[in-house]
Amino acid sequence: MTEKLDIKITKASSSKLAGLNLENLPFGKTFSDHMLIADYADGEWKNFEILPFGDIGLSPAISALHYGQSFFEGLKAYRHADGKISVFRPYKNAARFNKSAERMCMPDLPEEMFIQSIAAIVDIDRDWVPSKENYTLYIRPFMFATDPFLGVTPSTTYKFMIILGPTGAYFTKNLKVKIETNYTRASEGGFGFAKAAGNYGGSMLPAKKALEEGFDQLIWTDAKSHEYVEEMGAANVMFVIDGKLVTPSTRDTILNGVTRDSIIQLAKDFGMEVEERRVAVAEVLEAIENGKCTDVFGAGTAATIAQVAEISHDGKTYLLPDPSASVFANKIRKTLDDIKYGRVEDVKGWNFMI
Ligand code: PLP
Ligand code: COI
Repeated sequence: MTEKLDIKITKASSSKLAGLNLENLPFGKTFSDHMLIADYADGEWKNFEILPFGDIGLSPAISALHYGQSFFEGLKAYRHADGKISVFRPYKNAARFNKSAERMCMPDLPEEMFIQSIAAIVDIDRDWVPSKENYTLYIRPFMFATDPFLGVTPSTTYKFMIILGPTGAYFTKNLKVKIETNYTRASEGGFGFAKAAGNYGGSMLPAKKALEEGFDQLIWTDAKSHEYVEEMGAANVMFVIDGKLVTPSTRDTILNGVTRDSIIQLAKDFGMEVEERRVAVAEVLEAIENGKCTDVFGAGTAATIAQVAEISHDGKTYLLPDPSASVFANKIRKTLDDIKYGRVEDVKGWNFMI
């Protein structure tokens, strides 16, 4: 599909933008004036519509609520110094959207419908893209099942929606994390590689317990042995060990992050050796103890580059070198920001201009 997507537009009668306090923008609490919604029925996507942000009516029997046929994406729009607006690598999210759809037995959304929907809704709410340093407009596309039927079978109808919200930093400090060796986020043959709603619902109790124990985040380990590192909270996890960038290779338990992929490409451009492989907890802890591990950070759209100051495993605490002095994490954060905010030439073509 390359023709222009037909989207019915109903504009909000007034904007909430004037009441926005840029100094207090925690992640996910503020939404822009509009949202996009489309229906899937009779084997096709139709009724694309942009309308004022607000509640939607649904049957209480929809299988998204009962059986979790629901998934989402997350990406961001950035305002450049000249006022232009870009979205970072949305085609990667479009591809992953359909990977999630396939695993959850939900319909494919043609890439161009995803991209044109994002372009249209961000354009309508372009004044919501903050111009303040480190602030962005978070874009949340999602799909869910809408058949009013309690049978455990795939729905025949779905909705695709996009909502938007301006946001500051997801994490405001360096993190104290716990290596989780009891609960698991994902298992082999499961759907950890999909951005399925249930992956996040299941992560809340372990995260809450970790918070109560005084930690900011969890590092997830593999379900079988708990001996290998997988992800960190809702982000990929990366290490610099012996000057090499080391990160768990993607598999069915790990989300294939856009930030992760971008960092790997940039690290290679810096001339750094990159190892994507299984990463043992023991290897990381030993490398921290003998001073070979200089950086540990989470990498994700919401998390950006979330540096770790302290890791705990089995009750023992391992201190990382001062994150503010870390060469790699700080360099990669700056390089990525320079690209996203249009401060350097976008040689890789990662910025999709709105
Ligand atoms: N892993 C999980 C479980 C996530 O929820 C996210 C966030 O989207 C990531 C990794 C990072 O992916 P991305 O860089 O595409 O945002
Ligand atoms: C993102 O980084 O876009 C995410 O999806 C993380 C979110 C669950 C807070």
